Amino acid sequence: MVKIAPSILAADFCNLERDIRRVESADWLHVDVMDGAFVPNITVGVPVVASIRRRTEMFLDVHLMVEKPVRFIDAFCEAGADLLSVHLEADHPTGIQAALDRMEAHGVKKAVALRPITDPRAVLPYLERLDMVLVMTVEPGFGGQKFMDSQLDTVRAVREYIEKYNPACDLEVDGGVDPVTAERLIEAGANVLVAGSAVYRAADPAAAIAELRAAAQLK
Ligand code: DX5
Ligand code: ZN
Repeated sequence: MVKIAPSILAADFCNLERDIRRVESADWLHVDVMDGAFVPNITVGVPVVASIRRRTEMFLDVHLMVEKPVRFIDAFCEAGADLLSVHLEADHPTGIQAALDRMEAHGVKKAVALRPITDPRAVLPYLERLDMVLVMTVEPGFGGQKFMDSQLDTVRAVREYIEKYNPACDLEVDGGVDPVTAERLIEAGANVLVAGSAVYRAADPAAAIAELRAAAQLK
């Protein structure tokens, strides 16, 4: 089943609770954590995830765009994340495995994320223990960027690996997702769609979520 995950990066942070209520018809809530080092932008951290957890039952999909994420896994798990994604480019393989170990210890779902430059084969050493792979379809750091068509090949390659080695694993895509790109991404093998601008810049976010769902079902 396809899941829609609105990204609160495009929400109004002074009205965050209101903006979360507006997307409760979605499946997951996507929270972008940026450290100003792994990406050239700073967003929110552990206290914001903890506050969100107190106000919603939605599944919290937390995307960590931070260097050496193993340092923060315990804190984000304790704050109430349901799933954490760590970038493969953010640490050496031992650091990535250690981050996944900490998620496992907390019973939180485990994902790795790939920047557009990263070869899809990089997921293979981790794939069998993952709940999700996140393929970036823009360069991480900012919302509202143009979808990179070249990432459709990466989505197809990761889908092939998932079918072969861990069919239960989800494949999430993030960046420039709208009803048009959603249809192509689903066809390529994605099953979780993150959408910031397409949901929050719409006059009616619930209608935008329904549109994404409809587009995803065309394939
Ligand atoms: C970008 C973030 C995305 C961002 C997507 O680095 O990871 O989650 O919010 O925004 P849109 O949907 O506007 O491209
Ligand atoms: Zn994201």
